[in-house]
Amino acid sequence: MVLVLKLLIGLGVVAIATSETTSSGRATSCTLTGNSLDQLAEVKASCNDIVIEDLLVPAGKSLDLSGLSDASITFKGNVSFEYAEWKGPLVLIGGTNLSIKGEEGHVIDGQGAKYWDTFGIHAGVQKPRLFKLRYLYNGVVNNLHFLNSPRHCMAINNCTNVTVNNLVVDSKDGDTQGGHNTDAINVKGSENIFINHTTVYNQNDCISVRSGKNVHFTDGYCYGGHGLSIGSIGNRTNNVVEDVYFTDSIVVNSENGVRIKTVVNATGLVSGITYNNITMSNITTFGILVRGDYVGNPGPTGTPSNGIPIRNLTITNVRGTVQPQATNIYVLLGQGVAQNWYWNNINVTGGTNNLTCQGIPPNSGVFCA
Ligand SMILES: *[C@@H]1O[C@H](CO)[C@@H](O)[C@H](O)[C@H]1NC(C)=O
Ligand SMILES: *[C@@H]1O[C@H](CO)[C@@H](O)[C@H](O)[C@H]1NC(C)=O
Ligand SMILES: *[C@@H]1O[C@H](CO)[C@@H](O)[C@H](O)[C@H]1NC(C)=O
Ligand SMILES: *[C@@H]1O[C@H](CO)[C@@H](O)[C@H](O)[C@H]1NC(C)=O
Ligand SMILES: *[C@@H]1O[C@H](CO)[C@@H](O)[C@H](O)[C@H]1NC(C)=O
Ligand SMILES: *[C@@H]1O[C@H](CO)[C@@H](O)[C@H](O)[C@H]1NC(C)=O
Ligand SMILES: *[C@@H]1O[C@H](CO)[C@@H](O)[C@H](O)[C@H]1NC(C)=O
Ligand SMILES: *[C@@H]1O[C@H](CO)[C@@H](O)[C@H](O)[C@H]1NC(C)=O
Ligand SMILES: *[C@@H]1O[C@H](CO)[C@@H](O)[C@H](O)[C@H]1NC(C)=O
Ligand SMILES: *[C@@H]1O[C@H](CO)[C@@H](O)[C@H](O)[C@H]1NC(C)=O
Ligand SMILES: *[C@@H]1O[C@H](CO)[C@@H](O)[C@H](O)[C@H]1NC(C)=O
Ligand SMILES: *[C@@H]1O[C@H](CO)[C@@H](O)[C@H](O)[C@H]1NC(C)=O
Repeated sequence: MVLVLKLLIGLGVVAIATSETTSSGRATSCTLTGNSLDQLAEVKASCNDIVIEDLLVPAGKSLDLSGLSDASITFKGNVSFEYAEWKGPLVLIGGTNLSIKGEEGHVIDGQGAKYWDTFGIHAGVQKPRLFKLRYLYNGVVNNLHFLNSPRHCMAINNCTNVTVNNLVVDSKDGDTQGGHNTDAINVKGSENIFINHTTVYNQNDCISVRSGKNVHFTDGYCYGGHGLSIGSIGNRTNNVVEDVYFTDSIVVNSENGVRIKTVVNATGLVSGITYNNITMSNITTFGILVRGDYVGNPGPTGTPSNGIPIRNLTITNVRGTVQPQATNIYVLLGQGVAQNWYWNNINVTGGTNNLTCQGIPPNSGVFCA
């Protein structure tokens, strides 16, 4: 059976179009467009092929695509958001067996420049998170292109079996327009996450993994931010991160190349972390940094604690350059925190700020420079 629906909402034209219905009666394809979410519930209930095309999401509202199953979501054209000072997320996606993709030429435009005030999440106007995957089980996310995230861009929270390919996060405008805390990807409480071929221009972590297990980030290009991060770990409901692989990636013009940071006096666990084949250049602060003295505000204390062991840390084939005022490699950890570390073939040069390391395990191949 072929079904064609068309709905007109106020001034915005919302066309819900085409086509065959499934045996369960769900129309296969619906398009949400215009400047209203009034038809969203209807679309979610009746369609399993959801197209979001040239949509301007009303102020203070989430494009809430949670609770779906066996469905595809396609972003087309310019998907954007009216300005509102709130926490977001501007887009929320969750469910089981979902295919999420962006069509060639689409953009998810977070309108970050309207919010940026150099203060990020710490002060100034409240800025919404752009895009959250939450309770997504068996999801594939292909070819999404984000522009100018007000603050953190993509969250992967409480998800299992999610693959993200060919992601682009371009918040480069924030370099000169006050972008801050514009992390590209944050992972929390998630398992079996595969992120392949990501391109990021931003002003904070390219990716940070805060909790979860079996997370893979490969073939990334990170420009302008804070590098490839674990943490900060501590002070959250879940402070355990296990089996994370950062491989075959490039970090350019960033604050750090490789960074692990844990919160002072917190408890938790960091275990099975691998950085392999990472190239960095023009790093401003630390080439490789592992520190256990972090507090969010006002900053690191200089006195690490020992409630978060960092076990089984492999750093191999990491090379590149930092700026002269920077530190090539720095470790600052409490007694006994570092266990079973394996570092090999590391050549990070250019920094002249050689800080004294603390807490390096004996016979680990780890050195301070
Ligand atoms: C997307 O649409 C918004 C709202 O109309 C507009 O302000 C913005 O410039 C557009 N973005 C792009 C990249 O065209
Ligand atoms: C998801 O896909 C799997 C494998 O095809 C299937 O067994 C399962 O029932 C699906 N789950 C849902 C909620 O549709
Ligand atoms: C994740 O994938 C594994 C392996 O394919 C499967 O056994 C497991 O059921 C999946 N988990 C969820 C929550 O779908
Ligand atoms: C989601 O993950 C967090 C850890 O980030 C965990 O504390 C919380 O219990 C999880 N929630 C659910 C509903 O699974
Ligand atoms: C990453 O994506 C590329 C291009 O789509 C593909 O050739 C490659 O096999 C993928 N690698 C992994 C580890 O998934
Ligand atoms: C190392 O990573 C780069 C991408 O940054 C890739 O081109 C190269 O093939 C990788 N080398 C190996 C040995 O896998
Ligand atoms: C960490 O705990 C020690 C010992 O209780 C205390 O002296 C120190 O002030 C604490 N540090 C922070 C940043 O809370
Ligand atoms: C160490 O970590 C690597 C990478 O996560 C993992 O493959 C290996 O099994 C871990 N070994 C131990 C002893 O935990
Ligand atoms: C290195 O970074 C500095 C900012 O820290 C920037 O001004 C300079 O242009 C960068 N160099 C290159 C080659 O990109
Ligand atoms: C962690 O919690 C402690 C105690 O509540 C607080 O002093 C500290 O500022 C917090 N650190 C971070 C990074 O949130
Ligand atoms: C380390 O890197 C520097 C500068 O990038 C290079 O000149 C030097 O040959 C490298 N050393 C090794 C052992 O590869
Ligand atoms: C940095 O200092 C450590 C001692 O803390 C020393 O072993 C190492 O050779 C120094 N590295 C450089 C490049 O000066």
